[in-house]
Amino acid sequence: MKGLRHIAVIMDGNGRWAAAHRKARISGHRAGADALDRMMHYCRDEGVEFLTVYAFSTENWKRSKLEVSGLMKLLSSYIDKKKEELKANKVRFRVIGRRQDLSNSIQKKIAALEEYTKDGDFTLVVALSYGARDEILRAAKAFARDAITSGGKNLEALKEDDFAKYLDTSDIPDPDLIIRTSGELRLSNFLLWQAAYAEFYFTDTLWPDFDREQFDKAIESFSHRERRLGARLK
Ligand code: IPE
Ligand code: IPE
Ligand code: MG
Repeated sequence: MKGLRHIAVIMDGNGRWAAAHRKARISGHRAGADALDRMMHYCRDEGVEFLTVYAFSTENWKRSKLEVSGLMKLLSSYIDKKKEELKANKVRFRVIGRRQDLSNSIQKKIAALEEYTKDGDFTLVVALSYGARDEILRAAKAFARDAITSGGKNLEALKEDDFAKYLDTSDIPDPDLIIRTSGELRLSNFLLWQAAYAEFYFTDTLWPDFDREQFDKAIESFSHRERRLGARLK
């Protein structure tokens, strides 16, 4: 669809899905990973070039040890299992967030996969140990470091676009549409800077149940955006 280059998703509701199916929470996360694979196909079909998914927040470290280690194992095996499939489908894999918080072995796998898939024409951005306030604060520190080195020159001339170059998403366009599943109406510290003009779509559907029909509804809601923005665009 025209104007829909980048979709970002807060993949929420895996735990509730697992509970509804009388399964362990990790089964919900596994089903969530399958939903992500389907989502990539929907995006491709629609001509979307970037898909960003919130997979693990800076706050999620506070979950039980069992759940955190299960999620890390899932991430590690996802990378191992999907490596060739991503490459074959020309998916460029990228991670944003505090990757230094992840284990050395996962960091290595991520770096290798980013390098291996760098020529892909569809970008999957995975937010891991990600928090938008943390991202903005790290950007501010990096900017300040450069400003000190240059003796404070050009400080007053700093533009929004110049600052955005310090964010983890420096080479990724802002999301046009942000989807959150499972009925929660909040951003939970996701892409605060980048979401400034995004359209939002909320659904009660739990992430593992997010299917083509849901995707089409989200796209349909996005298609009315120009009317909602009204005069601003004219
Ligand atoms: C989202 O599902 C996935 C992660 C945060 C890793 P949740 O695990 O938050 O699922 P609910 O909100 O408990 O249903
Ligand atoms: C947001 O979901 C983070 C991810 C989807 C990874 P949470 O379930 O962790 O967020 P809160 O706690 O409901 O805000
Ligand atoms: Mg949740």
